[in-house]
Amino acid sequence: MRNLRNLLPFIWLSTLASATAIPRWQFIQNGTTGVLALEAIVVSPTLAVIFDRATNDPLLVDGHTAWGALWDFETNTASPLNLVTDTFCASGGLLSNGTMVSVGGNIPAISIAEDGRMGLRLFEPCASPSGVGCTVVDDPATLHLETTRWYPSSLRIFDGSLMVVGGIHEDTPFYNTDPVNSFEFFPSKDGGVPRPSDFLARTVPVNLFPRVFALPDGKVFMVANNQSIIYDIEAQTETPLPDIPNGVRVTNPFDGSAALLPLSPPDYIPEVLVCGGSNSSDQIPSDQLSSQDVASDQCSRLVLTPEGIAQGWQVEHLLEPRIMPELILLPNGQILVTNGGMTGYAAISSVSDPIGNSNADHPVFTPSLYTPDAPLGSRISNRGMPTTSIARMYHSTASLTPMGNIFIAGSNPNPDVVNGTEFHTEFRVEYLNPPFMFVERPTISNVPSMIGFNTRLTVDVTIPFSLGAETIQVALMDLGFSSHAFHSSQRLVFMDAELSPDRKSLTILTPPNNRVFPPGPAFIFLTVDDVTSTGAHVIVGNGLPPPVADQGIPF
Ligand SMILES: *[C@@H]1O[C@H](CO)[C@@H](O)[C@H](O)[C@H]1NC(C)=O
Ligand SMILES: *[C@@H]1O[C@H](CO)[C@@H](O)[C@H](O)[C@H]1NC(C)=O
Ligand SMILES: *[C@@H]1O[C@H](CO)[C@@H](O)[C@H](O)[C@H]1NC(C)=O
Ligand SMILES: *[C@@H]1O[C@H](CO)[C@@H](O)[C@H](O)[C@H]1NC(C)=O
Ligand SMILES: *[C@@H]1O[C@H](CO)[C@@H](O)[C@H](O)[C@H]1NC(C)=O
Repeated sequence: MRNLRNLLPFIWLSTLASATAIPRWQFIQNGTTGVLALEAIVVSPTLAVIFDRATNDPLLVDGHTAWGALWDFETNTASPLNLVTDTFCASGGLLSNGTMVSVGGNIPAISIAEDGRMGLRLFEPCASPSGVGCTVVDDPATLHLETTRWYPSSLRIFDGSLMVVGGIHEDTPFYNTDPVNSFEFFPSKDGGVPRPSDFLARTVPVNLFPRVFALPDGKVFMVANNQSIIYDIEAQTETPLPDIPNGVRVTNPFDGSAALLPLSPPDYIPEVLVCGGSNSSDQIPSDQLSSQDVASDQCSRLVLTPEGIAQGWQVEHLLEPRIMPELILLPNGQILVTNGGMTGYAAISSVSDPIGNSNADHPVFTPSLYTPDAPLGSRISNRGMPTTSIARMYHSTASLTPMGNIFIAGSNPNPDVVNGTEFHTEFRVEYLNPPFMFVERPTISNVPSMIGFNTRLTVDVTIPFSLGAETIQVALMDLGFSSHAFHSSQRLVFMDAELSPDRKSLTILTPPNNRVFPPGPAFIFLTVDDVTSTGAHVIVGNGLPPPVADQGIPF
């Protein structure tokens, strides 16, 4: 070896240097949430809001237990939010004017909280990096939903409002036995009368947290149980689409996850991906189901054009079965598959053989990457992905952060905060860091805080010398609201961009209109040769309160 080193000093040294410097994906644990991160949403470049139920979380506010908190990405600490109503198993999203709205909830188990089932809680845009002075306004007497909804989904639509979908009225042991088979909006439409849905009625009892997406023409795709539709908000019609193949059911309590694949100019052809869940019958009483029933490894993909729908769902398989996976869009267009277990179901203490209280078992500790453009059969890989030792089972969350890494938190398949069991309440936060977190990254700056549709804008960039700039990707992203293995409103729209010859400025063409990207907050990420910048925070559209008028041009 010494001879070789003497003979080939430069080769040896450079090989050694690159071998030790090859950056890899890494899990890094840092901080604890104090309030179980059952729901999570990024609300500013430095902050996420997390919600639990009103229970016995250790973080205190005003002398009592807190069930909401602000997570600070800079300090990796949580500070409590003082809520009024119970946010258990709720949803939420961001409006066209930047306000975050938390939607729905539960009847509290402790007297400190009020009934949250009609909850509408507002977190106004927060300019303080650490959240000083920012709080949730939760006043059920003056602001509430039209009907009670536990386990609803919500979605920002083309006019910047939230569409609220489905749920249960009351407590239910496992299946949706007391369904809210309707849609409503915030701010409300139709004089506040919810719209009944045949689709929701058809998909009981496995239709909680329907997976719903805003399509680039303003319509909404929905999947619940093993069925899917397109809902036309303006015409108020439901168009049934093919069932998910092979009896696979993908909504709570058989949670798979779903994502709208990245949309690209000039055609923005929508395509959805649905992964995991269970192929069990939805007619089996829960006490005859087992925590050891193998979950589904199926991913199903459907192109939402007449031709794509005629062709039907295309099936492929994850590396392992997954109940309660999370699908997270990454700025380079890949999708991270993380969290969940290989067997069982969502929910708590309902199967014949729960593990402690958990209906699911065999946590998956290694994430996978899904590459949408790769050929069928070679899209899914976990090569080079790290393995964690922290189980992320029922009531866990994950989100892309403004820094470009992935925040993973929560897990609590228990009715309250418990410690000492295998699947205890999990307060530890992990970041899953992509390799680019360990190298010199491009930057994007001088981005206007509000950007219009169909607009060309020039921003400043820096691109490290080490990058050839073979591929430039500019992603406009809604990071979504994470609850129950689904990211409401998560979205990635690629924007055409041209780099100046001196590599110091980038001219970007924004999406054509408010249907391609529903107006509201977003982050712009620049990825150069697979190395991603931190995100620039913007409001897309005119920033007015919903409902906003159509903006931009048809495409
Ligand atoms: C955890 O985060 C804090 C605040 O950002 C930082 O100072 C510290 O170095 C981090 N610790 C680890 C182990 O990464
Ligand atoms: C979807 O589920 C229903 C009800 O269980 C069943 O009748 C139908 O065959 C399923 N569809 C497919 C494609 O498996
Ligand atoms: C579910 O899928 C597994 C594996 O493909 C199969 O063995 C099983 O029969 C299926 N169960 C049902 C109820 O279709
Ligand atoms: C749970 O118990 C473990 C082992 O005793 C302890 O290290 C940990 O701090 C406890 N966690 C909480 C949140 O109390
Ligand atoms: C945004 O709009 C909502 C709905 O009208 C309103 O409740 C909220 O206060 C508005 N926030 C701001 C910052 O304008």
